[in-house]
Amino acid sequence: MMRVFSKLFWVVAVVVCLFPLLNNINGRGGVMAFHKTYIVNHELISTKNVKQVYRTGYHFQPKQNWVNDPNAPMYYKGYYHLFYQYNPKGAVWGNIVWAHSVSKDMINWIPLKPAIEPSKPFDKYGCWSGSATILPGNKPVILYTGIIAKKPEPGYQVQNYAIPANYSDPLLREWIKPDNNPIVKPTSENVSAFRDPTTAWFNNGHWKMTVGSKHNQRGIAYLYRSRDFIKWTKAKHTLHDKKNTGMWECPDFYPVSNSGTNGVETSALEGGIKHVLKVSLDLTRFEYYTIGTYNTFKDKYYPDSTSVDAWAGLRYDYGNFYASKTFFDPAQNRRILWGWANESSTTAEDVAKGWAGIQLIPRTVWLDPSGKQLVQWPIHELKTLRGHKVQKTNVKLNKGDIVEVKGITAAQADVEAIFTFSSLDEAETYDPEWSKLPSENLALEICGIIGTKQGGLGHFGFLTLASNKLEEYTPVFLRVFKTQDNKHKILMCSDAKPSSLNKATYRPSFAGFVDVDLSKKKLALKSLIDHSVVESFGEGGKTVITSRVYPTLAVDEHAHLYLFNNGTETITVERLDAWSMKNPCYMN
Ligand code: FRU
Repeated sequence: MMRVFSKLFWVVAVVVCLFPLLNNINGRGGVMAFHKTYIVNHELISTKNVKQVYRTGYHFQPKQNWVNDPNAPMYYKGYYHLFYQYNPKGAVWGNIVWAHSVSKDMINWIPLKPAIEPSKPFDKYGCWSGSATILPGNKPVILYTGIIAKKPEPGYQVQNYAIPANYSDPLLREWIKPDNNPIVKPTSENVSAFRDPTTAWFNNGHWKMTVGSKHNQRGIAYLYRSRDFIKWTKAKHTLHDKKNTGMWECPDFYPVSNSGTNGVETSALEGGIKHVLKVSLDLTRFEYYTIGTYNTFKDKYYPDSTSVDAWAGLRYDYGNFYASKTFFDPAQNRRILWGWANESSTTAEDVAKGWAGIQLIPRTVWLDPSGKQLVQWPIHELKTLRGHKVQKTNVKLNKGDIVEVKGITAAQADVEAIFTFSSLDEAETYDPEWSKLPSENLALEICGIIGTKQGGLGHFGFLTLASNKLEEYTPVFLRVFKTQDNKHKILMCSDAKPSSLNKATYRPSFAGFVDVDLSKKKLALKSLIDHSVVESFGEGGKTVITSRVYPTLAVDEHAHLYLFNNGTETITVERLDAWSMKNPCYMN
């Protein structure tokens, strides 16, 4: 075992100190509401000579250009379909069309021509996000937002539908946008904040769906009803709303089973279910969800008392993850979650590399047995890309130890570890004063206070995408605190601060709490590492954090993976499994 604890290393690491809330905003160093628009002359930019070290190997990304929200994921006649917001003309947001790819396993993809493009008066200036609903008789229909005028900014928004031209084509290559569109128009107060229709669900003789909006700063999920999917009526009340939360983009509303990991169909009401409402908050560019009850009599959603709306509440992912969408996969009875990760590089860098944005690995999502939160895990199909494997058992990590995991391609890997410890005594005290901190992202606030200075029980975890001499590394770690009532709080962090010598890129720290019973004195961590993205799952997917990073030294075969412990309590890596990850056979 290599014992290379150097004061210098941790001094450098302290600089990693994490910033308070407003720096955690998922833009490039500040609040980035909606998408920025740029005028870029792409003819002048050559991507030929740009080393594509940051392209991912096994994440979903087209060959070039800008990507944002995943749209209308669905399963149809043996194929998974993914549509997504795409700029065919460049690596910045704009000229948005619905790009379309199909797959048998959500890992290997075949690109098709765009399914929906601006062409009609009802979507002339843009085809924005939306969802798919499978109507009886296995007939998919898409609902999407059309932009009918550029003003008021960011555009005058209506809701449209599109249907397949040929239901016997499992690839659904052609889509028709009927001329009776738009089917839903905004009211005068929200013409430019009225978008992203959800998958519809059916009950009491009606199809129902929600559209994201705001009025003054009240975030709103409007409820619409229809008997025939064409004529929609706005309900007198909203499905749910919350003051001072700003625009609710990309709402998602779906049932989850009270027990087990199976998903349920979006209209399901029977058999022990709860409902989830997720919104993407334009104000923070993060996503938040609540778990609650859908009262079909009142047609209203009520979050549970344990579920808080907006930024004091739960997130699917405490990192770079936005505009997500779920769908029910009838082939495997599961609910799948797709999310988009924006770049953290500068716009100039994005334009130079010729692409921006990736879709994260689809995750199966289900309700935790506590009923208080969701759990997520990468779809099992991802395992088909696992190549060479390295396994270690019972590796002791004393205070300050850093142990390299050799033998895998550390820039493109899947790593899982179970950490154990013999006692909880060394856990530091959770300062009662911390409860007075702003609750927007308490975990991140606490990370900021403790920095990376040595702890008691942790922090321990992985140094991903690390350079040989640790000039660069992205640490993903856990740290345990003891509260006054003798309970424990577990902090999970993924920290891009030391990730790159290129200080121009946005290098945020991200953190969340992991709600876990520590009686077994064990904690699990998994990271999916793919060149410029690290997706990490704490304790079997109870807390998830995604970071985008752009190392300058730790690239390709120069990247390393380490296990580390910077707490006084000795940690044992009971088991470590790490795989080199292969590229899919075909990808966009
Ligand atoms: C979310 C979003 C949606 C909108 C789309 C436009 O990232 O702003 O609200 O429909 O992107 O591309």
